Amino acid sequence: MIIAIANSKGGVGKSTIAVHLAAWLREQGYRVTLADCDAQQSSSEWAKEATPTTRCVRLADADEILDQLPVLAQECDFVVADGPGSNTETSRALLLRADLAIFPCKASLLEVRALAQATNVLRQAQDIRGGVPKAAIVLTMVGKHYRLTQDMKDAAATLDLPVASTALIQRQVYADAPGQGAVVWKLGSRGKEAAAEVDAVFGELLPGVRTLLVKRKSA
Ligand SMILES: Nc1ncnc2c1ncn2[C@@H]1O[C@H](COP(=O)(O)OP(=O)(O)O)[C@@H](O)[C@H]1O
Ligand SMILES: [Mg+2]
Repeated sequence: MIIAIANSKGGVGKSTIAVHLAAWLREQGYRVTLADCDAQQSSSEWAKEATPTTRCVRLADADEILDQLPVLAQECDFVVADGPGSNTETSRALLLRADLAIFPCKASLLEVRALAQATNVLRQAQDIRGGVPKAAIVLTMVGKHYRLTQDMKDAAATLDLPVASTALIQRQVYADAPGQGAVVWKLGSRGKEAAAEVDAVFGELLPGVRTLLVKRKSA
């Protein structure tokens, strides 16, 4: 399965989600490849330390993405593709190959509206591919006491995308994690709440994964 982290806007939490998702899947025993499709290569640098048994591959452009993602997917259980902070062609290529697209989005009306551009590309891919990839929004860097306003709900509704019911809260521990070369659940008690919320988000986005794990363990 190919999972793309795909908001073509910078600084919304894509690499944070990509590295945590790759590590989360890896710790459940899956063979995971992180495909770093961002020229800044921040997620592959971080993942090398945070999840050393995850294979990291850098894909430089849209052609490499289109050519290599299916090959990588053959060789493992999950490919987590971290998207770039700009470049529509790269995003398009990702959405033409992904089975699931996760759109991290900051919880502001302007940010949700800005997602419209990315979701246009998503619709084109879904149109070509008969509804694939499935997609969902994950709200990121959300204030602790934040509540989704009606404006935001309306804006999300016009995008016609489900919003994960768990949001990622703005927490210092997420910002510290790359410098520690770690994921939040490796950062002790400081990372406890963050660990619980990423687990909840991934469990919600990939409901089959834990079922598979149970099946594997009992097999
Ligand atoms: N939930 C969060 N709370 C606090 N800081 C965060 C959170 N998610 C990401 N960050 C920080 O925000 C910045 C941008 O996140 P990043 O994952 O690199 O976004 P992108 O890959 O979309 O550019 C980074 O410094 C990261 O550590
Ligand atoms: Mg990034």
